[in-house]
Amino acid sequence: MNFKLKNDTFLRALLHQPTEYTPIWMMRQAGRYLPEYRETRKQAGSFLGLCKNPDYATEATLQPLERFPLDAAILFSDILTVPDAMGLGLYFSEGEGPKFKRPLRDAAAIKALRVPDIGKDLRYVTDAVTQIRKALNGSVPLIGFSGSPFTLSCYMVEGGGSDDYAKVKTLMYNEPKLMHHILEVTTQAVINYLNAQIEAGAQAVMIFDSWGGVLSHAAFHEFSLAYTHRIVEGLIKEKDGLKIPSIVFTKGGGLWLESIANTGCDAVGLDWNIDIGIARQRVGNKVALQGNMDPAVLFASPDAIYKEVEHILGSYGYGSGHVFNLGHGISQHTDPEHAAALVKAVHELSRKYH
Ligand code: CP3
Repeated sequence: MNFKLKNDTFLRALLHQPTEYTPIWMMRQAGRYLPEYRETRKQAGSFLGLCKNPDYATEATLQPLERFPLDAAILFSDILTVPDAMGLGLYFSEGEGPKFKRPLRDAAAIKALRVPDIGKDLRYVTDAVTQIRKALNGSVPLIGFSGSPFTLSCYMVEGGGSDDYAKVKTLMYNEPKLMHHILEVTTQAVINYLNAQIEAGAQAVMIFDSWGGVLSHAAFHEFSLAYTHRIVEGLIKEKDGLKIPSIVFTKGGGLWLESIANTGCDAVGLDWNIDIGIARQRVGNKVALQGNMDPAVLFASPDAIYKEVEHILGSYGYGSGHVFNLGHGISQHTDPEHAAALVKAVHELSRKYH
């Protein structure tokens, strides 16, 4: 039991301890589908302006919790702050997503990569964590996060989002040593970054391997999972006598569930391709599961949302070890009333399974 928190259902579910209901939070729960977020972003001037100012980051983190009785808060930031701190020059062009001014395009740039000084270059993130913890005042736990080295490398080499990952895959197959060098440096940066978030007050951490699923079986294990594994091993496991659970989310990772569960993480995040009951059979009690509703269900009516929630809860079955979530980030076109219906459905319908 965590006496410091009013609601520690999320942490207990991650550690397979009994709960009264299934906890829920939503990936990208703070964001453009909320009018109050759009207003705050306007005040801040830009998305990066929000991330880099701890007052705004705190405000954005709390917005979804003021609307919905969510069981966890997630730090408002972005995975690309790490390559930005490594000197790649992150910017967002309207409607085009993230971009880097100085992507990794040759061996010289790759060899010059350095682990950033987290206490200096990413101080705005740890300051935000400290401030958010204060503002939450023990209501629900705060999740810290990072991208996986492979997912970060995709953006660092491509220079932005990609449909085919042609540049990063060409590098990986032509120059595996250079690719491993990027991954090595990034892995050390991510370990330092997540541990700094934990020191600042993050009560659980999540690693987003959003693009690991675009790899072949062999490449996934060599270029993505091996590094995720090292990160999990390098994390602070306990703080102030409380366990700090870790969640590994690989979009498209259903095929590799057992390998992901073997990294030593406490929970595996699932997208919506896999049936959560089958996933549970495959991993047993080794890890908890987080997921796995298709975010597009939120475009449908509250009735349809209730049906889908019942299906997922029923498929997971009885007992702890499930954190309800979407299988990927909530769409900016979601009606906030539908998000409210989802949270209500999970809280109401899950009680009979506990
Ligand atoms: O979940 C949360 O509420 C916390 C905040 C959060 C953001 N990004 C805020 C954000 C988190 C956890 C992320 C992670 C992230 N960022 C990932 C991994 C998760 C995933 O979705 O797979 C990735 C791949 C990124 C990189 C990134 N940042 C992209 C591709 C984009 C553009 C996508 C889009 O929806 O336009 C961003 C921008 C971004 N990150 C926004 C938010 C709220 C939208 C920015 C805006 O206000 O315009």
